Amino acid sequence: MEHQDTQRPSWAPPEVDIDTPSIARVYDFWIGGTHNFPVDRELARTVAAGNPDLPATLRANRAFLRRAVRELSALGIRQFLDIGSGIPAEGNVHDVALAAHPDSKVVYVDIDPVAVAHGRALLADEPRAAVFQGDLYKSHEILDAEETRRLIDFDRPVALILAAVLHFVPDDDEPLALVRRYTERLAPGSALVISHAGAEEVPRTAPEAAEQYRGAVSRVIWRDNRELTALFEDFELVEPGVVRAPLWRPEPAETPDPALAMLAGVALKPAG
Ligand SMILES: C[S@@+](CC[C@H](N)C(=O)[O-])C[C@H]1O[C@@H](n2cnc3c(N)ncnc32)[C@H](O)[C@@H]1O
Repeated sequence: MEHQDTQRPSWAPPEVDIDTPSIARVYDFWIGGTHNFPVDRELARTVAAGNPDLPATLRANRAFLRRAVRELSALGIRQFLDIGSGIPAEGNVHDVALAAHPDSKVVYVDIDPVAVAHGRALLADEPRAAVFQGDLYKSHEILDAEETRRLIDFDRPVALILAAVLHFVPDDDEPLALVRRYTERLAPGSALVISHAGAEEVPRTAPEAAEQYRGAVSRVIWRDNRELTALFEDFELVEPGVVRAPLWRPEPAETPDPALAMLAGVALKPAG
């Protein structure tokens, strides 16, 4: 085991236990962040040992998210509601959006109190961004929260970001109905950004094998292109549609790895 770090850095709020692993910080380690501790890194390495593609898949997902925010900023979108955000550390939505336009506003929501506590400390001096604890399933609480009302004007376009979170919502919980509870509040010109564990085709012919395949990463539910496309419903997908996350408008300098099992897409809400 790595030596336990008893030094609490200034970004770690006092109420957060830094000697017990946190999934949010494990995730932060996988995506190359610095907001994690030895216990988190140890768990991250253990999980990744049985799932070697996971860190690269999650990094590709984050890179997709940054490209999507950049492109939506270029389209003039200045408001971002990111649900299931994890720890909003460096290179996250507000960094990209504020670099693109200083008037951008970003609201982060996560169910994990550790992610939120770290996020609050990180964003303490940033009035254009906020983070609060909320459950994706409780749309009214998120849409009517003080932070949301303060920073987001629903009469103007908003980018709703559901990155790597809908794969925790089983079919029985009706993910489309859940997404709709948010999208119906969005003005024309708004955007829906989704990334989701999955592949072009998730085997169905042998149900048992498919379930094994789908359930390979703990409780994560894999969906295929058709299922993910359905979640965008009457929004219009921008090019290149729903694809593996690394293939969504890669930067010229990037070498996308199309084998990583994360699908992604961005769509716009049409007028009328
Ligand atoms: C895999 S991480 C994705 C983080 C970030 N969106 C990204 O794409 O890099 C999933 C996040 O979703 C959060 N989450 C899971 N279920 C949630 C729910 N019902 N409501 C809000 N957040 C949730 C977790 O706490 C975790 O931080």
